[in-house]
Amino acid sequence: MIPRVWASIDRGALRHNMQRMRAIAPDSRVLAVIKADGYGHGAEAVAHALRDTRSTSDRRPRADWEADAFAVACLEEALALRAARVHAPLVVLEGVLSLEEARLGLREHLQFVIHDEWQLSLLEQLPRGARADIWLKLDSGMHRLGFHLSALPKALARVQARPDWRLHGFMTHLASADDDTASALAQAERFDAALGDTPGLRSIANSAGMLADDSLHRDWVRPGLMLYGISPRADRSAADIGLVPAMTLCTRVLSVRDCAEGDRIGYGGAYICPRDQCIATLAVGYADGFQRALGDTGSVLLRGVEVPVVGRVSMDMTAVDVSAVPDVAVGDVATLWGKGLPAEHQAAAAGTIPYELCCGLTRRVRKNYDPPANAAVSV
Ligand SMILES: Cc1ncc(COP(=O)(O)O)c(C=O)c1O
Repeated sequence: MIPRVWASIDRGALRHNMQRMRAIAPDSRVLAVIKADGYGHGAEAVAHALRDTRSTSDRRPRADWEADAFAVACLEEALALRAARVHAPLVVLEGVLSLEEARLGLREHLQFVIHDEWQLSLLEQLPRGARADIWLKLDSGMHRLGFHLSALPKALARVQARPDWRLHGFMTHLASADDDTASALAQAERFDAALGDTPGLRSIANSAGMLADDSLHRDWVRPGLMLYGISPRADRSAADIGLVPAMTLCTRVLSVRDCAEGDRIGYGGAYICPRDQCIATLAVGYADGFQRALGDTGSVLLRGVEVPVVGRVSMDMTAVDVSAVPDVAVGDVATLWGKGLPAEHQAAAAGTIPYELCCGLTRRVRKNYDPPANAAVSV
């Protein structure tokens, strides 16, 4: 069956981006963030794309995974990866939600990020001798998750009372590293002051933090977005950073028609042709994850030309003005974002962020791994 909408996932790009991140933070280990189904790229496939093919003489103890560890949001995501034979170290960023989860976590050798007293209380219900693998998360200023800095000594005392547990280290999350380096550095300073010389590894930087300042790299960096070849900063393109988009989302032209000046296009007739125009209807809509907010603001790439979306995006279809592409034909492939049309640009047009676009793809979108992006599809 010919797919209507497909996301071509370039595994080579994932590996390239991983190398690029290693070059950006050469002295840090990489906790590759593959939550939310690998930001829509397919978490299991992303993890398997990052199996280490290099020689074992490399100094980092990476077993056979290109990332030093992977991070997911919750237990369910971690279990899905284990079921898919991802045996790499796995970190659950939101930690443990119940005693049952704690038990499952032990069985699957998961590392939990513990961010609150109630999570410590859950772990304390595990029998003595159970080796819980944990990180402690500190709230250095984002005020989302994490122990208040003043609560650290008490939390640490509770952890130290359980010598059977393994405390990997401490993490905090940056609120504004993409556009406010000073605030990121201030968070790091508070984190450092609270921890002093407490032994344990440190992790601060997400993708934006990795670019903001080298001092934020510490023992572990935690990039998500850059792994997928997307820039976390408005002032630097992915290409500037040396990243390659891993996902290229495509659809096909379903219909082409000549419209006259004054014709109204789509639902509500919201777009009125200001002149005679050639309009193509694409087989993609908000039910695929091509957001309705892209109506009249987004663009797509057709035969190498960027053309504007006109009128409202419907559930399954989207109109574009192809007057500048005279040879456009039914069956032509349109790139919605990815190679040639960065997701960052499309997200800005929709008034959102590329994270939301990639995570928002629906089950209707077929994922193809490693085919040439924009491969011609005939109808
Ligand atoms: C705790 C934590 N660390 C790292 C990341 C990765 O962030 P990014 O995708 O911006 O690199 C996230 C993503 O939301 C996160 O929640």
